[in-house]
Amino acid sequence: MVVQERLKSYEIFERSKEVIAGGVNSPVRAFIGLGIDPLIVSKGEGERITDVDGREFIDYCMSWGALLHGHADPEVVAKVCARVKEGSSFGIATEVEEKLARKLITAYPSIDRVRFVSSGTEAAMSAARLARGYTGRPMIIKFNGNYHGHSDTFLIQAGSGVSQVSNVSSSEGVPQDIVKNTLSLPYNDGEALKKVMRDPFYSRFIAAVILEPVAANMGVVPATQAFLETLREETKRTGALLIFDEVISGFRVGYGGARALYEIDPDLACFGKIIGGGFPAAAFGGKGKIMDKLAPLGGVYQAGTLSGNPVAMEAGLKTLEKAETAGFYEELRRKTQIITEPVKRALIEKGLSACVQSVGGMFTLFWGPTSVSSFEDLKKLDKEVFKRYFRFMLEHGVYLSPSPYEACFISSAHKEESLSRTRDLILEFIKQC
Ligand SMILES: Cc1ncc(COP(=O)(O)O)c(C=O)c1O
Repeated sequence: MVVQERLKSYEIFERSKEVIAGGVNSPVRAFIGLGIDPLIVSKGEGERITDVDGREFIDYCMSWGALLHGHADPEVVAKVCARVKEGSSFGIATEVEEKLARKLITAYPSIDRVRFVSSGTEAAMSAARLARGYTGRPMIIKFNGNYHGHSDTFLIQAGSGVSQVSNVSSSEGVPQDIVKNTLSLPYNDGEALKKVMRDPFYSRFIAAVILEPVAANMGVVPATQAFLETLREETKRTGALLIFDEVISGFRVGYGGARALYEIDPDLACFGKIIGGGFPAAAFGGKGKIMDKLAPLGGVYQAGTLSGNPVAMEAGLKTLEKAETAGFYEELRRKTQIITEPVKRALIEKGLSACVQSVGGMFTLFWGPTSVSSFEDLKKLDKEVFKRYFRFMLEHGVYLSPSPYEACFISSAHKEESLSRTRDLILEFIKQC
């Protein structure tokens, strides 16, 4: 897109770069690798966002999946406004925290207590600390391509199988002493996990195994049933905790998250995004005997000035109430399939090296690989085609999540005709490939 058409966005971004590191408050917003300046958004309503230059887009990023009912949902807004008028933060307990906690526990019966925090990073970081405190062990196993926020423990990549466990941080500034306590293994590879869990050295030190049961940070990549069952068996056998990071999948792949989809109970679960209804709220939860290790009852410290913020709680509560209605998730899936099914067919007909993967209300169109079950499969990603695809869609009024490693999200606010238009645009792009 030529700069003249987006003059105001360009100017604001240039000014932002002077006062905000990289001009953005989260790296992916900078559109690195896309050869285009980032959007500067001014407002959102329903399925759409409008940028400061007045350009309107159908939005499939939806605040990275947080907005299950689209932007500025009137019922969520009404709850939030009413709350704000009576005070937005107290640092004292409020009744709505109990209501949202109960809602979470009812939706997710393997947990009987939660603790609210303000971000998914905090939820996963606190769950890891709790697992370490509960088991008295130091090490965490995660999986390549899964993202659990930016705490030191989780910024680790590589390492496949115990024979070549190599821990390398994906960020500068993470001390080696922390790196050595995280092992990152290939996703969907039960044998690699078994090797570590049955290794006489490692098995005594593993506090927890954490994963995205439906991965969405390397595009949408569901775990296999067998993989999750192996994780459940191996953690049970060794006394390590199994943590489902459902920050994206929770209330997205179904009301009961991935837990209900696979019918596997984790020991701890993390939530975020949707449970804050567009406001900063997240949570982690588990059985009482584990959760009661947290301060003030137990010795694992965890706290937050804005934790359980009543505005975010009201937004989350209304969001979940609206998702509870019969048929909500069937409809979300149907809407997703308006795009995904014809696109899948077109890719096959054209014989392109690409694929679409989706679960519930999210999908990824991968350019390069013909199926993706682990991060290793993404070596075949064609970032150049993604760049052209992203720009083509943007130029035609569709805003996709701006990275080939991300998911696109459907909300209940997406209209039939917008979904059809999006599908047709993707089909047109495929024709040009
Ligand atoms: C699965 C998962 N866990 C944790 C996080 C971190 O959440 P936050 O960005 O709210 O810190 C994310 C963020 O995208 C996520 O997708």
